[in-house]
Amino acid sequence: MNTLQVDLGDRSYPIYIEAGLLNQADWVRKHIRAQQVLVLTNETVAPLYLATLMSHLEGYSAETVVLPDGEQYKTLDYLNRIFDQLLSKKFSRNATLIALGGGVIGDMGGFAAACYQRGIVFIQIPTTLLAQVDSSVGGKTGVNHPLGKNMIGAFYQPQSVIIDTDVLDTLPDRELSAGLAEVIKYGLIRDPDFFMWLEDNIDKLLARDKPALSFAIERSCRNKAEVVAADELEADVRATLNLGHTFGHAIETGSGYGYYLHGEAVAIGTCQAADLSVRLGWLKESERDRIIALFQKANLPVLPPESMDSDRFIELMAVDKKNLDGKVRLILLKKIGEATLPVSVEKELLEMTLKTYGRE
Ligand code: NAD
Ligand code: GLY
Repeated sequence: MNTLQVDLGDRSYPIYIEAGLLNQADWVRKHIRAQQVLVLTNETVAPLYLATLMSHLEGYSAETVVLPDGEQYKTLDYLNRIFDQLLSKKFSRNATLIALGGGVIGDMGGFAAACYQRGIVFIQIPTTLLAQVDSSVGGKTGVNHPLGKNMIGAFYQPQSVIIDTDVLDTLPDRELSAGLAEVIKYGLIRDPDFFMWLEDNIDKLLARDKPALSFAIERSCRNKAEVVAADELEADVRATLNLGHTFGHAIETGSGYGYYLHGEAVAIGTCQAADLSVRLGWLKESERDRIIALFQKANLPVLPPESMDSDRFIELMAVDKKNLDGKVRLILLKKIGEATLPVSVEKELLEMTLKTYGRE
């Protein structure tokens, strides 16, 4: 068993990574504290993995909530369905909520667990690459608002993260690529050797080579765990995990949630951030081109949508949790392997990237 630790004092927790883990009852039961268990999943993941998980919960009072599948359901309205079930089945505050699914289910499950009776036990079983390498670790939970992505939420750490790499066998290729966007992010912000490894091994990852995928998941989780342990509440270095996300969230909101996958929007946004970093004289042009090439090789989009002009980007980027005093603040790159903390950028320079990158 490959076990990593997220070191957060008395809220520390393990990340278990292994092929076939979902078939082993012990790892699931280990962190359940009492009889009542609610499993949250969606209509796509339920037919694939819910029965296996429920078979480990025989003897518990286990209930399920199966939400429709999609980012467009990551809302307060659908969150209420979880509370409806918890309340109607009279769940107490020692109950456990297990999120079985991708980042949407993990973020919603975590937020529901944080809010229900001011906090119940929460376990993450991430089933997408993106959720395994990023969203299941670190305790960011929440839902979207029509005016901004992930704007309603809470920091709430799970008791454990259970990563079964075999569940990626059923993940569509497009979703696998979307997860790779966040994997590449770790190389860009703090792990240049990993970035070079990704340049050399991206074809293996796309071909779902198991040792390569396991290595990339573990290395990503290690990077994420170190950053979260250093700065749980994003006062400082954790913000670097948002490389490309301010542009990306604007693209997701501007195109309507669900049109671009989160990882796809992040890939485009990271290329925009790289372009802006070149304009500031930090990143070399050759490095920006390597970044764009790696995203392209990972079958990810690298150009912003034609439907979004510079004014629309700026309007949407004004709604971002990194902004202070109404000023847009961005994570940019000094070089491959080193990100800046949030920086305010002159509007004219930002507009240069928004008007020219991918528009010529
Ligand atoms: P997702 O949860 O929508 O899952 C993607 C798709 O894959 C869905 O259709 C889902 O049903 C399907 N799926 C899941 N597991 C599967 C499997 N094993 N086999 C087949 N299909 C499967 O999307 P995502 O990319 O996992 O997560 C994106 C969300 O995560 C966004 O809402 C984003 O804001 C959030 N996010 C949160 C954090 C965080 O730190 N909390 C970090 C990054 C992203
Ligand atoms: N995904 C960004 C973070 O966890 O901080």
